Amino acid sequence: MEAPTKNLALDLVRVTEAAALASARWLGRGDKDSGDKAAVDAMRKSFAALDIQGRVVIGEGEKDEAPMLFNGEKLGSGQGPRVDVAVDPVEGTRLLAYGRPNAISVVGVAPANTMFDPGPSFYMKKLVVPYEARAAIDIEAPVRDNLIKISKALGKDVDDLTVFVLDKPRHQKLIEEIRFAGARIALHTDGDITGSLMAIDPRNEVDVMMGTGGTPEGVLSAIAIRIMGGAMQAKLDPQKADEKNALIAAGIDTRPVYGEAELVRSDDLYFAATGISGGSFLRGVKFTGRGAVTYSVSMRGLTGTVRHIEAEHVFERLMRVSNVKYD
Ligand code: FBP
Repeated sequence: MEAPTKNLALDLVRVTEAAALASARWLGRGDKDSGDKAAVDAMRKSFAALDIQGRVVIGEGEKDEAPMLFNGEKLGSGQGPRVDVAVDPVEGTRLLAYGRPNAISVVGVAPANTMFDPGPSFYMKKLVVPYEARAAIDIEAPVRDNLIKISKALGKDVDDLTVFVLDKPRHQKLIEEIRFAGARIALHTDGDITGSLMAIDPRNEVDVMMGTGGTPEGVLSAIAIRIMGGAMQAKLDPQKADEKNALIAAGIDTRPVYGEAELVRSDDLYFAATGISGGSFLRGVKFTGRGAVTYSVSMRGLTGTVRHIEAEHVFERLMRVSNVKYD
């Protein structure tokens, strides 16, 4: 019998735990960049211990000029499989800074050269539904038509549907269209990876995630969707002239519709996320006096195993072996 291959997802969860533990100290302190920087530093140090030859394809920061793990950065010990890495050390930096729910730390890994490279694209329009509704969606069709078909596929009425939407001025028309169709709306200021996870998680009340958010968040969501099951359609959706011009200059066509299988072209995927502020998909970091408790999800594409992990951390002992500083 062949030896089982290594499940990187279990190593990755230590990376998102470290980022969540470091950044959770900044909950509600109104300082977006310091919380993000703490997570970025902890994530970079934790990756160094992993036996991968990683390259960051989906980094973060350019859109907000935030601290970042930059695109093209090498991660890992330099031994082991060549992989593309997608990171979002704090998904929802404002959620963390203003003490709102659903800030999470997220990482995804795929074989080298299989992840969609966003180039200069910052924004992407997305439509995410549970697996049963995969044949019902068409991101180019009117919102109402989509919601009617999705509700039929899920065996519900349209007014039973809950649609996750980011509460942004650009979504005013989308919100009106959803209301006109008769569906319920869950409005969140930030965090559309959590929105996508909620839509595909049968334990959650959200049925659909709709609207425009970050392109990196779209690729990370696609990894989780391929592993957990679910369906996604997405289209680049530049918001400002600079972004439009950069896409034109790079020769990138904004017309194609991408499914989750185009955003990441492999099944050999790993995804991990840890709750920072606590919310609908993952509970937040709870400090205990001598350490902290974290709640994470860790998934592997080849097997489809999704693990929910509650971990107790004892800082003084952790720091004897870890290169990350916890206090
Ligand atoms: P950050 O963690 O980078 O702050 O992203 C939070 C977020 O709400 C994402 O979930 C979403 O995809 C994106 O920002 C939307 O961008 P914007 O806030 O510029 O509309």
